[in-house]
Amino acid sequence: MGRPGFGDRGGGGRGGGRGGGRGFGGDRGGGRGGFGSPGGRGRGGFGSPGGRGGGRGFGGRGGRGGGRGGPGGMKGGKNVIIEPHRHPGVFIARGKEDALVTRNMVPGESIYGEKRISVDGDDGTKIEYRVWNPFRSKLAAAILGGVDQIHMPPGSKVLYLGAASGTTVSHVSDVVGPEGLVYAVEFSHRSGRDLLNVAKKRTNIIPIIEDARHPHKYRMLVGMVDCVFADVAQPDQARIVALNSQYFLKNGGHFVISIKANCIDSTAEPEAVFAGEVKKLQSEKFKPQEQLTLEPYERDHAVVVGVYRPPPKTKA
Ligand SMILES: C[S@@+](CC[C@H](N)C(=O)[O-])C[C@H]1O[C@@H](n2cnc3c(N)ncnc32)[C@H](O)[C@@H]1O
Repeated sequence: MGRPGFGDRGGGGRGGGRGGGRGFGGDRGGGRGGFGSPGGRGRGGFGSPGGRGGGRGFGGRGGRGGGRGGPGGMKGGKNVIIEPHRHPGVFIARGKEDALVTRNMVPGESIYGEKRISVDGDDGTKIEYRVWNPFRSKLAAAILGGVDQIHMPPGSKVLYLGAASGTTVSHVSDVVGPEGLVYAVEFSHRSGRDLLNVAKKRTNIIPIIEDARHPHKYRMLVGMVDCVFADVAQPDQARIVALNSQYFLKNGGHFVISIKANCIDSTAEPEAVFAGEVKKLQSEKFKPQEQLTLEPYERDHAVVVGVYRPPPKTKA
């Protein structure tokens, strides 16, 4: 079996060196912590500074250049085996080097220069997958870090805040598939142009070029969603997520939030920043259930996953 790798990263240079995040298929990376529930599995613990220890990364070194301008199509043929990941809609390509992949909704097209792998389906037809680069996507980094839940199975509806050019959005579009929907909010017109181009070919993406601080401006476009994903990298992210959830997240729905510590407070310890953000979320009816750092793919970032307005527990 090949070691988890990341093929031809074009001399990236970020990441590496700090360990954590062990690789594939639900292997647990460092930096996990539960929130007082047994779900934490005794690793890390809430607010623990874990996640800096060893571990094999996805390619180990460097990395943001991944795939850019790469050759695009790549024959998987008989040398690559595709296995479902434990997160529905996500797959692992096992070959010389293993890779996290999603099934391409638009075969023949890459979004950010990522490699495509074509394999023979059961009936002899070709199925194409796109390699999902954890150095370019915090959601991929969280998956490779062993996050327990991403709450966006095929057919689900996701509100994605901070869509940028659509790199991760395109993979979420693959994951939720043709029966699902991704409402992708981005306020930068420059990134928004790329996002609109991605959405042209992917009918399950609804691009919204607006400020996520003003959800009332797009309330007519967005239905109730199963999951809010946020990666806006803003100091008031918790408030932005709360506002959007009040409008669009169903009770008992879930959230997945990426927190970049130095966007919130560049002077405090990252763990203290993460703990502060979790407190803010708790005060807004979010129940965090899981937290993990994104090392070695991103420094001083954490992902927090949980449930919104959970239904009251009924006595058995
Ligand atoms: C870290 S980048 C997101 C990267 C993206 N999630 C990905 O994985 O491809 C943060 C993005 O959030 C956008 N953003 C920041 N504040 C925002 C706001 N208030 N409303 C909408 N978008 C915002 C920025 O323009 C930027 O494109």
